[in-house]
Amino acid sequence: MPATIAVLIGSLRKGSLNRKFAQALEGIAADRMRFDYVDLSDLPHYDQDLWDNPPASVTGLKQKVEASDAVLIVTPEYNRFFPGIIKDALDWGSRPKGEGCWAGKPCAITGVTPGATGTAVAQGHTRLAALSVDLVVQHSPELYVQWNDERFGDDGSVKNDQTRKFMGDFITKFAAWIEKHGN
Ligand code: FNR
Repeated sequence: MPATIAVLIGSLRKGSLNRKFAQALEGIAADRMRFDYVDLSDLPHYDQDLWDNPPASVTGLKQKVEASDAVLIVTPEYNRFFPGIIKDALDWGSRPKGEGCWAGKPCAITGVTPGATGTAVAQGHTRLAALSVDLVVQHSPELYVQWNDERFGDDGSVKNDQTRKFMGDFITKFAAWIEKHGN
């Protein structure tokens, strides 16, 4: 049985490179994992008052994560940090207290940017935030990727063998991480 992965993309825009990258990872992982993309486009900022009648975007997020074997966060870097939509998702999923969806779930983090640092700084901050909600975050290999024409086609296809190998190693380790830490 392939593992079900709840995938959070930190970019909402249609042409997102991070979404293309997640889809490329999905292709590489297809024999071992099924990606279930969580729609964060309607997720409001965290607001305790909304628990009286929680929005479908919040209940949908929690249901998808609860039904998954693991979580994959694919994040851009915004001003050397991860985008607020990821923080809101982590905060919503962590409540109500004692009924959060993250605790104990295996998790991996990656991301792409046209910038030279390959989202390394954003991923470090994402790791701290993920650990705070008790996700069990994979340590290595880290997968920092600079998106450019030599590595990727416009359609998100992977053109570079070394990049494909890095991505494959990341998925193989994630599969082992899920095997070790999943329920
Ligand atoms: C960026 N970008 C960016 N890139 C980077 O490598 N380091 C950074 O700190 C930032 N900061 C930043 C802030 C804001 C507000 C925006 C909108 C963008 C560029 C960013 O990586 C690029 O736009 C990516 O293409 C965004 O990811 P998606 O939307 O393509 O998935």
